[in-house]
Amino acid sequence: MKANPPLATRTKNISSSAIREIFKALKDPSLISLAGGSPAAEFFPLQTWQDLITVCHQKYGARLYQYGITEGFDELKAVIAHRQSSHQLTIQPEEVIITTGAQSAIELSAKVFLDAGDKIILEAPTFLASLKTFLLYEPQFLSVEMESDGVSIQAIEEMISLHPDVKLLYLIPNFQNPSGVTLSLEKRKAIAQLLAEKDVYLIEDDPYRELRYDGEDLPSIHSMIPEKVIYIGSLSKIFSPGMRLGYFIAPPEIRKFMVAAKQATDVHTNILAQALATEFLLSEEFAPYLSQMKKEYTARRNTLLSALQKYFPSEFSWTQPEGGMFVWCTGPESFNATETYSKAIAAGVAFVPGTFFYAEEGTHHNTFRSNFTGSSSEKIEQGVKLLAHVCGA
Ligand SMILES: Cc1ncc(COP(=O)(O)O)c(C=O)c1O
Repeated sequence: MKANPPLATRTKNISSSAIREIFKALKDPSLISLAGGSPAAEFFPLQTWQDLITVCHQKYGARLYQYGITEGFDELKAVIAHRQSSHQLTIQPEEVIITTGAQSAIELSAKVFLDAGDKIILEAPTFLASLKTFLLYEPQFLSVEMESDGVSIQAIEEMISLHPDVKLLYLIPNFQNPSGVTLSLEKRKAIAQLLAEKDVYLIEDDPYRELRYDGEDLPSIHSMIPEKVIYIGSLSKIFSPGMRLGYFIAPPEIRKFMVAAKQATDVHTNILAQALATEFLLSEEFAPYLSQMKKEYTARRNTLLSALQKYFPSEFSWTQPEGGMFVWCTGPESFNATETYSKAIAAGVAFVPGTFFYAEEGTHHNTFRSNFTGSSSEKIEQGVKLLAHVCGA
C-alpha cells in the first residue's frame, strides 16, 4: 500500500523539487562544479582550528558541553558586535543574537512575521533557500526586477503603492546570491527613506559583505535605519559553513519574538562551534586567513570572467561581481539553461539553471548561476570551456 501521510497543506509547497535532483548530481567527484556556493575547503586551517579547540577546552571547560542561553555565547556576541559596529552605528553585544547559520535567522524572521497570504517583496532573482523557507509560511511573493546597481527602486515604490499592506522587503545588498550584483549607495539611501515613510520592514541578508575584492565597502541599510531592519549575517563564508553559525540584529520589539521562536526551534546554537568561532575571530591567524581566501577568490573570479569572455558565444552576457561567490549569466531567448543542464552534466560540468531563483515558476530559462569559489582556477577554466561547448559555442 502506498503511504499517504496526513501532511499539512503547506508541506506540498516544499515537496517536489527539481533543484534537489540537480544537487544530487553534484555528488559525482569527477564533475567540475560551478553549481554550489561553498568556500575553498582546501584552505581551511585545520591545524589552527584543532589547536583552538584545545584553547576552548582550557578556557571554557564543561561550559562548552552544557545547555546555554538562547541568545548565544556572550563572548561571540561581543566579537560580532565589535566587527559589526561602524562609524554610522555602534552595536552592543546584547543586540546580537547567534543563530544556527544565517538560514535559521531567515526562517525565524519568516516565522514571526508571515501569516498565510502576507505580502513580501523580493529581488528577482533571489536566494533559492530563502524562497523555500518563505514558502513554508505561504506568503504572496511580489518580485521586483534587478538592475546592474541592485533592485529597481521605482519597481519597489510601484509595488508598495499597489500593495500598501506589504509587510516585508527581503534584500541581499552585497554581491547578491545569485546575481553577484551590489546595491548602490544611492539605492541604499532610497530604501532607508522608503522604510522611514512606510510600514514595511526590511530583512537585510548580508552573508557576503566581508568577501569584497574591488571597490569600497558600502554602509548597510541597517546602519541607516536600524529601527526598521532585521540585519542577518553569517560566519559560513569567512569561517566555516559546517559550523552553522549566523546571527541577526533586530529592533528590541522584534528581537524578543525571534528569540522566543528560536527557543522553540533549537533552544540555542551549538556552543562548541560558537566558542571556536570566538577564538578564531580573535586570533592572529584570522586576518591573514581571510586575506588569503579573498586573494584566491579574486583570482578565481577573474578566471571565470575571462573564460566566459574567451569561450562563450557573443549573444551571452554576464555580471561583473565586486565580491561574493557568483556570476549570473544570461543567454539569448532561444537558450534554455534548464534543458541544457543534463547535457552539461554528461559533458562533466554543473551549474544552476536560473529559473530556480525566481518566485514565479518556469520563467527566465535563458539564465544560469555560476560559482567561482568552490573549484580551482584550472577547473573553472576547464568547466567554462566544456559549458560553452554545450551552450552552442
Ligand atoms: C544570500 C544568502 N543568505 C543566507 C545564506 C545562508 O547562510 P548560512 O550558511 O549562514 O546558513 C546563504 C548561503 O549561501 C546565502 O547565499
